[in-house]
Amino acid sequence: MSTTEAAPGKVTIVGAGPGAADLLTFRAARAIAEADVVVWAASLVHEDVLGHAAPDAEVLDSATLSLEDVLAVYARAQRDGLRVARVHSGDPALWGGTQEQVDRCHELGIEVEIIPGVSAFSAVAALAQRELTIPEVAQSVILTRLGGGKTPMPPGEEVREFARHGTTMALFLSAARSGQLAAELAEGGYPPDTPVIIAYQATWPEELLLRCTLGTLAETVREHKLWKHTLFLVGPALAASGTRSHLYHPGHFHGYRRAEPAARRALRAARRSGEHGPAHGPGRGAGDHPSPGPGGGEDPGPGGPEGSGEAGGGRG
Ligand SMILES: C[S@@+](CC[C@H](N)C(=O)[O-])C[C@H]1O[C@@H](n2cnc3c(N)ncnc32)[C@H](O)[C@@H]1O
Repeated sequence: MSTTEAAPGKVTIVGAGPGAADLLTFRAARAIAEADVVVWAASLVHEDVLGHAAPDAEVLDSATLSLEDVLAVYARAQRDGLRVARVHSGDPALWGGTQEQVDRCHELGIEVEIIPGVSAFSAVAALAQRELTIPEVAQSVILTRLGGGKTPMPPGEEVREFARHGTTMALFLSAARSGQLAAELAEGGYPPDTPVIIAYQATWPEELLLRCTLGTLAETVREHKLWKHTLFLVGPALAASGTRSHLYHPGHFHGYRRAEPAARRALRAARRSGEHGPAHGPGRGAGDHPSPGPGGGEDPGPGGPEGSGEAGGGRG
């Protein structure tokens, strides 16, 4: 494309997913296909993803470039009216060095768009066939990393502090210090039999999925010599069974579905007696089903959050 056509340059920050070239959104694949320049993170994005690029696209490995080098590419794109696809692993909102690029693009005055991607934590959960939020066991997911690496952790964000919640945690960028990881998780209160899923290069041909417990986490990592490109899922939800979602219970009603009267009576009776299935998380009382509060109530009305099937304890 030439400057005389006055086409504006554009930078698209593309979430390329965990590795597999078919785990991108259509929008991401299109942005790569339409790019004049593809800047990709070769160490984290599988090269098959480049199969979406045009044969004549200029391809640059971001591992060999500083931020300044990348900004020079963006400045050239602005000058020459080029489309740049900056390809990041997973979702660009997580540990992508994305914000500094977006801010500089704004300073440069070049249009910038971000296309979300499938983060490694969702890919690993899918691979392990586990839901990370199980009714009455875990309703939150903490995405974090171990401190002590190149990037210092802000105060209060230590793994041991987050572990005190006892809910599901996804730990990125932490395999090189698996002993410290296990120790901090234990200090936070997870018992040694807490289920752990370890995934190495999920969705790559060399993918490895391991199940262990907190007590065997460090030795499992050592045994398989994992130190990078590894994600940990930790928490009682990873082995929980026997609970069921409130949202899809026949006794539950909302804007889109009536309750079955007998099931409704049974559900109310169970709720009154606290018999609503086991609770597994550390520091939680058994059977303490959350009472329906605002937004989690029984009849939020059409379009309400529970009616949309996305919130509450249910499968979305
Ligand atoms: C710089 S972060 C990028 C995270 C990425 N933005 C995301 O949303 O998944 C790199 C870390 O993500 C995790 N990761 C990324 N891709 C992975 C994969 N395919 N399998 C396992 N872990 C992965 C690892 O913890 C790795 O150290």
